[in-house]
This record gives sequence, C-alpha cells and structure tokens, in this order.
Amino acid sequence: VRIPDGDWIADDRSGLTLCDATSAAFAMPLPWAKLDVATYSWQKVLGGEAQHGMLILSPRAVERLLTYRPPWPLPKIFRLVSGGTLSEGVFRGDTINTPSMLAVEDALDGLRWAADSGGLAGLIGRAERNLELVAAWVERTPWVEFLARVPSTRSCTSICLRLEDGLGGDPSGRRGPALVARMVELLAAERVAYDIASYRDAPPGLRLRGGATVEAADLEALLPWLEWAYETDGAGGL
Ligand SMILES: Cc1ncc(COP(=O)(O)O)c(C=O)c1O
Repeated sequence: VRIPDGDWIADDRSGLTLCDATSAAFAMPLPWAKLDVATYSWQKVLGGEAQHGMLILSPRAVERLLTYRPPWPLPKIFRLVSGGTLSEGVFRGDTINTPSMLAVEDALDGLRWAADSGGLAGLIGRAERNLELVAAWVERTPWVEFLARVPSTRSCTSICLRLEDGLGGDPSGRRGPALVARMVELLAAERVAYDIASYRDAPPGLRLRGGATVEAADLEALLPWLEWAYETDGAGGL
C-alpha cells in the first residue's frame, strides 16, 4: 500500500517521523522535508544486492541522537553517537565489520543505470507506467481487482491484486487460495513467472513487481499468461 503524500505530517512537529521507504525510494516521490528517518534497500527499485540497509537522517533526527540518552544499553552496531558527537564516519564508509564490496559496486552500477534512465523522474515514470498497464488490465478483467481500493494508495512497485471473493461460484471464497496456488504452479512450470502469489497474510491474490527495473513490455507479456493460468485452472476443475 502506498501512502499518497506527507501533507498530514505537521511541519512544526516535535516528534520524529520514521519512514520505511524500502519499496518507495527511487519509484515514488518522497516528501523529504516531512521525513526525519528514512530507510531503503538496494535490492528494491534499483535492483541491486540485498544486505545493506540505507539510513537517511534529517538534522532533527541527528539533534535527537545527540540529546537523547537511551536508558538501556545499545548494541555497538546501532550506536550512531560517540563521545557526544555523531559518528559521521559510518555515513562516509567507515565500517565496524566487513560489508560486501561487490554489493557496493552493484549499487553504484544501479545508480549509473538510474542516471541513464532519466534519473528519479525517469524511474518514477517507469514504475508508474507499469502500474498503469496492470490497472488497465484489471479494469477489463472481471476476476481480479486491486487489493487497495483507493487508487492513490496503490503501490507502483509491489502491485497487489486480489482475486474476487467467491469467483467460480463458491461464495465462501474458499476456492481463492487453492486457485492462486494452482495459477502460481502453472506459471512457474511454464517458466513465465515465479513467486507471484500474494503476501502470506494477505487475501488470496497475486503480487506483481512493478519497480523501475521491470520492463513494461515484460509486464505486458505476462498479462495474457495470467488469463491463461486462470482459465486453465477453471478447466482443471479445482
Ligand atoms: C516496506 C518494506 N519494508 C521492509 C522490507 C524488508 O527489506 P529488507 O529485506 O531489505 O530488510 C521490504 C521488503 O520487501 C519492504 O517492502
């Protein structure tokens, strides 16, 4: 789910805003003036390697770090203040343990690719185009709908769809999970798509990747396969 904007966050707040932007950074505009602590991961929109979590702090967050003394001991890896000053070295490449330089180089490569792809606006455009493509398909496909009903809350990176309750005539919706499992199995067997079932705690459905690394043409090519998997399942009589 996407939070459409940060307008609801007060400019004169006394607290800190913590934002998990893991799947949003580089694919959606972020209201930086409203965010004090933001995180994201390289493996998401830029398609890099997992392992490193990125942390972006506002001056207000730094101020809080310098003035707040937690009453409990903090593990060394989480400490950002030393001797009353911010440990700025960690933001410049000083490390406690050994990070993967291959992952670092890959992240730099991702940034070069991003610059060549029109920069931030280009990446946002690619992800939004992917969402639009899927939205047009959902619009004309009776058995599927967006998990997020309000369009402005639909993520363009993690495109979450649900299969309509009771499709296939079972109003209890019991058919949903089995249907999804069968569709996912068929698509994997055809090597069309892997791991596209909805998140385990979500209603039965599909989760499509729409991040900037995904070519619109590939997503477009997937859609008829989803219909095929759905119809094949119907013929199989689950
Ligand atoms: C919103 C959000 N938060 C956190 C995570 C976990 O990211 P990581 O595996 O890099 O810790 C994900 C990944 O799916 C995510 O989408």
